[in-house]
Amino acid sequence: MQQPLRAKMLKWQERQPISMHVPGHKNGTIGDLLMTQVLNDITEITGFDNLHHAEDVLYESMAQLNKHPDYRGYYLVNGTTSGILAVIHAVASIQGDVSIARNVHKSVFHALELGQQSAQILATSVSEKTGQYSKPDVGTTDLAHTKLGVVTYPNYYGETFDVAHVVEQFHQFNVPVLVDEAHGAHFDLPGFPESSMQAGADYVVQSYHKTLPSLTMSSVLWIHKDAPYREWIEHGLQVFQSSSPSYLLMESLEAAQAFYESYDSTLFFEKRKQLIAALKNKGLTVITPQDPLKLLIRYEGLTGSSLQAQMETQAIDVELSDENAVLWVLPLWHDQDRFPFEQLLERIERIILTPGVKSSYDKPPYLFTKPSAYQTIGMHPSRSIPYQKAEGYTLAQHLTPYPPGIPSLLKGEIVTTDMIKLIEYWQSRGFRVEGLTDGKITVKDE
Ligand SMILES: Cc1ncc(COP(=O)(O)O)c(C=O)c1O
Repeated sequence: MQQPLRAKMLKWQERQPISMHVPGHKNGTIGDLLMTQVLNDITEITGFDNLHHAEDVLYESMAQLNKHPDYRGYYLVNGTTSGILAVIHAVASIQGDVSIARNVHKSVFHALELGQQSAQILATSVSEKTGQYSKPDVGTTDLAHTKLGVVTYPNYYGETFDVAHVVEQFHQFNVPVLVDEAHGAHFDLPGFPESSMQAGADYVVQSYHKTLPSLTMSSVLWIHKDAPYREWIEHGLQVFQSSSPSYLLMESLEAAQAFYESYDSTLFFEKRKQLIAALKNKGLTVITPQDPLKLLIRYEGLTGSSLQAQMETQAIDVELSDENAVLWVLPLWHDQDRFPFEQLLERIERIILTPGVKSSYDKPPYLFTKPSAYQTIGMHPSRSIPYQKAEGYTLAQHLTPYPPGIPSLLKGEIVTTDMIKLIEYWQSRGFRVEGLTDGKITVKDE
């Protein structure tokens, strides 16, 4: 066998890439994950514990997860995805709708589909800075029939909103709230935004692997002491997670938690300042969202993907690029980390920037910010048709632009003229859109 994956990894290593993307250990240069070696890849042998009925060492390890006294943490080995599935599926048999922000992750739709649950999409405003959905507006939706609220905080680009107000609005109607804090495992560290745990959210899921130094797929679900459905969610965690949870992932979670608890952010802010100065010195524009861990970088006249390509020629690998900018996820630098900071500064200096022809900030048209009802349609006979002819048909597959991989037009929605214009915009810019192939989209056969 050729082993194409091995060959690819070796080639990637040869470049000596510098990671400005997830996971938070930055190619093993942040934190200490030396214990995650194959020797420690064990299973539930004598003396060890079962994640699905933790009563020994895993129970003890999870009992020490301590970010807020009102919350108990659960290790997740199938990512934040599995926590979201478990919480939303737990309310499947309860009457009512799930109220969701427009920018929820696709796992939310998968959970709705599994339980055939209906939803209300909350009005969600778009950020002027990034052109991304950022803030749900709960006030415009009647919550009398809502059984669960689901919001994304922060968004992929590190933008936050007044989550305490949103949680309070749901709680006024006795509606529990799930906060997808996938991008906020480092929140509450000094100088960073507050976690929604400070706001009393009922369920908070954090992808430790994205911003803290733990292995990919390792996350934590936090459940508030007064939150309903705990037992049903615990059952869901068994349904949606492997029966062979990786001890390497769980050990890395324990290490990331220890890292978090002892983290001093002074050095982070010093290095960030130095880095921003180096980028500006190079003539790049740096946009800073509320989360200091994220930087958006632009260069007048270049699309984000052209800028990304220029960075990659210097082996600086980025989180994502869009029409206007490149997104970096910074390392949580610490004393004695192994992150090649000086090399990064040198490589920034070497980036070749030739002014392009792109017009300045390009905002996508027709983002859908109004509240609407959403009914999942499950699996249906479908067919593929040119998107220009799709008006009035029901989408049988989400249309999900990458990045950031958040469904934009939803399976079950009726195609409108504005949606067709948005698809046209994606086509004209050459966006990668899951669900759009050769100018065709999949609609329900009706
Ligand atoms: C907003 C958001 N929620 C959830 C997820 C899923 O997280 P995980 O990869 O830990 O399953 C992602 C992944 O990118 C995400 O961006």
